[in-house]
Amino acid sequence: MHINAHGGGILLHRGTYYWFGEHKTEGRGGNQAHVGVHCYSSKDLYNWKDEGIALKVSDDPESMIADGCILERPKVIYNPKTRKFVMWFHLEPKGKGYSGAMVGIAQASKVTGPFTFIRATRATPQMWPVDVKPFHKIPKEGEIWKDRANLSAGEHPDSVNTLGRDFLPGQHSRDMTLFVDDDGKAYHICSSESNSVIHIAELTDDFLDFSGKYVRAFVGDRMEAPAVFKKDGLYYFMGSECTGWRPNPAHAAVAPSIWGPWTQTGNPCVDADSETTYHSQSTFFLPVAGKEGAFIYMGDRWRPENAIDGRYIWLPVEFEEGRLILRWRDEWDLSVFDK
Ligand code: DGJ
Repeated sequence: MHINAHGGGILLHRGTYYWFGEHKTEGRGGNQAHVGVHCYSSKDLYNWKDEGIALKVSDDPESMIADGCILERPKVIYNPKTRKFVMWFHLEPKGKGYSGAMVGIAQASKVTGPFTFIRATRATPQMWPVDVKPFHKIPKEGEIWKDRANLSAGEHPDSVNTLGRDFLPGQHSRDMTLFVDDDGKAYHICSSESNSVIHIAELTDDFLDFSGKYVRAFVGDRMEAPAVFKKDGLYYFMGSECTGWRPNPAHAAVAPSIWGPWTQTGNPCVDADSETTYHSQSTFFLPVAGKEGAFIYMGDRWRPENAIDGRYIWLPVEFEEGRLILRWRDEWDLSVFDK
């Protein structure tokens, strides 16, 4: 079976893994969403069952998730208080390129859906991060104030004041992920400020909104494809550089708290083709059920000319002196975690 669930994430729920990802179609046009978010399930990570489309794009051209929108990197988490499954994804309304920089939020009572689309929003509208500086609250003027997809080479987000620029409409949220901590709190982590800063924002108790508490991390470091996991009380981050669909060297970091401070530990890839993250871009770290501290790196190998032909690589996560490491393996199975 060909798994069509790109830019995805996996939820482990009651002993079953549920893989949610972008359903891509053929050709260049397949980079837009024409079907929705596809779900597959597995009990062992080797054998997968097609659970169908968990969230469908809408036939209504006025819908925020109309057929032809860009719907990327869907992530699903479970809220034990509301007993709902909550999906967040990067959403670009149809026909506007990547200028929307929004998140879409959907909810379901059953893990495989159907998910009901709730709303689309920018991140943390009219909220200042905990690390805001007085100068962020002073508007800039002119050309540099323009909302741009990416900053120019060498331009620092604080020289443009991207944070202040987006205070009213809400902060950019392009590549994104969700992370649930051991204490049940959930976080939205995204590429913000014209892809130059990562924002880490706490969600409300129902996981349907921003609580208002957030921080800026890696200011000016221009990363996308964020993926996060926690091991032995430490938080690990991996992201890519910003080169569209082309792979580039990854960046890893570690922190004692989700709020930081984040210490960068370099490119986690150490074998040949490390400069392309083994021809992949980070998507998700999958905790392996029943194997304490075991995580699998999931990275997309994009095929933008024929989107449906995109592939994944999965690699076991290793650590060396507290540093996140990914070694290339032609073949491996779950027994690597028994050693
Ligand atoms: C890289 C991102 O990581 C992908 O999710 C996608 O948005 C492409 N850029 C689009 O060029």
